[in-house]
Amino acid sequence: MDRILIRGGNRLNGEIPISGAKNAALPLLIAGLLTDEVLELSNVPRLADVSQLNRILRNHGADITKRGKRSGETMLSGDTVRVHAEDIVDTTAPYELVSTMRASFWVLGPLLARCHEARVSLPGGCAIGTRPVDFYLEAMREMGAEIDIEGGYVVARAPGGLKGARITFPKVSVGATHVVMMAATLANGETVIENAAREPEVADVARCLVSMGAKIEGIGTSTLRIQGVDRLHGASHRVVADRIEAGTYAMAAAMTGGEVLLKGAEAEHLRAFIRVMDEAGVAVREEQGGLRVRRNGDGLNPVFVETRPHPGFPTDLQAQVMALLTMAGGVSTIRETIFENRFMHVQELVRLGADITLSGDTAHVRGVDRLIGAPVMATDLRASVSLVIAALAAQGETELNRVYHLDRGFEALEHKLSAVGADVERVSG
Ligand code: EPZ
Repeated sequence: MDRILIRGGNRLNGEIPISGAKNAALPLLIAGLLTDEVLELSNVPRLADVSQLNRILRNHGADITKRGKRSGETMLSGDTVRVHAEDIVDTTAPYELVSTMRASFWVLGPLLARCHEARVSLPGGCAIGTRPVDFYLEAMREMGAEIDIEGGYVVARAPGGLKGARITFPKVSVGATHVVMMAATLANGETVIENAAREPEVADVARCLVSMGAKIEGIGTSTLRIQGVDRLHGASHRVVADRIEAGTYAMAAAMTGGEVLLKGAEAEHLRAFIRVMDEAGVAVREEQGGLRVRRNGDGLNPVFVETRPHPGFPTDLQAQVMALLTMAGGVSTIRETIFENRFMHVQELVRLGADITLSGDTAHVRGVDRLIGAPVMATDLRASVSLVIAALAAQGETELNRVYHLDRGFEALEHKLSAVGADVERVSG
């Protein structure tokens, strides 16, 4: 199994290209199931999760092909992927495939909308919390589907097709918004989604669906109004930049005291994050082509951070901001309100010398003068990368195990970090 070795202490300086967003690419690929024509997606990041989802989509009968590179494109330009689901030959998403990646459960919406039936394995638990699917099932029922749970599978049928409905989510859910929005594009009549997720990735999927012929109003707001159409057609769409990757590298630069330009990052998607960075003493400024990140002065200030659905501070940056604050000059408070168990990185950060105490959904981080490298391992993607951030500033060498978590969501991480001066090396075996 691969490991990553990081020798800390180098400042990061230079430019880091930001990839297409994993959390947009996954639902966009799934949206390809809604049409018998070709959906062409560019700027698709090369990630283990994308490859895994492609296996799942192929199992339903979709042809997935990658276009070759064109002149001027580099290894970091992302892939151009064509999804062609001319015939859906199998409406089952099996346990072996779904259990490894929760987002694959989202095929439920397109399959039910297009084929009027779906049999999708329940995703099971994961390292960051229980993550139920009750909102999805309730919404599909309200849209006229019969839902049974049989042998660990959601068996959904809507013989006459789905019908429009008014869905009000009790709590903001990114995945449930994706699924209902996709399903509603081919339902009979109008669907209104209240308390919809406003994440930029949801808006990106909505824009792609519109270019496929869907009728969606309220994109980017918490009320989505979707008029069902008979069919969707092919389209070309570019995946939005990964705001979580951008935020992560911003904090890596801030941690080491360097200055980087995050090429392609969009400030509009990171407002709450930028405010927190400002308070912490890190300047994140928009400029032509991206965001420039620089620490103001020597030290970092302690801050209060609370995760919230977009436009609030993203839970997917919580582990990373905790890593950053381990070296702030005072006590920071971090409250996680989205997932109940997303503090698995705490014990590993402590192994590097951090001083963190947990109490329920709140972590108190007392800044220390130095971190010291150690062998660490992480249980999920964002937790892993928080250890990378800490390691970049730690004295000596950190050995990060279970690198496959990073490969799920960060394209060419060691390449991007080495290019701006980090001492990072992947060791195979
Ligand atoms: C998406 O997960 C992201 N995944 C997650 O990113 C992200 O952390 C999360 O949204 C929140 O922003 C992808 O986009 C692929 P939710 P999702 O439904 O959709 C509760 C990463 O590291 N809930 O918005 O699964 C749920 O338990 C990943 O890239 C229900 O109670 O998250 C949670 O408390 C990890 N019932 C809250 O809603 C339901 O039926 C928000 O979860 C559905 C959700």
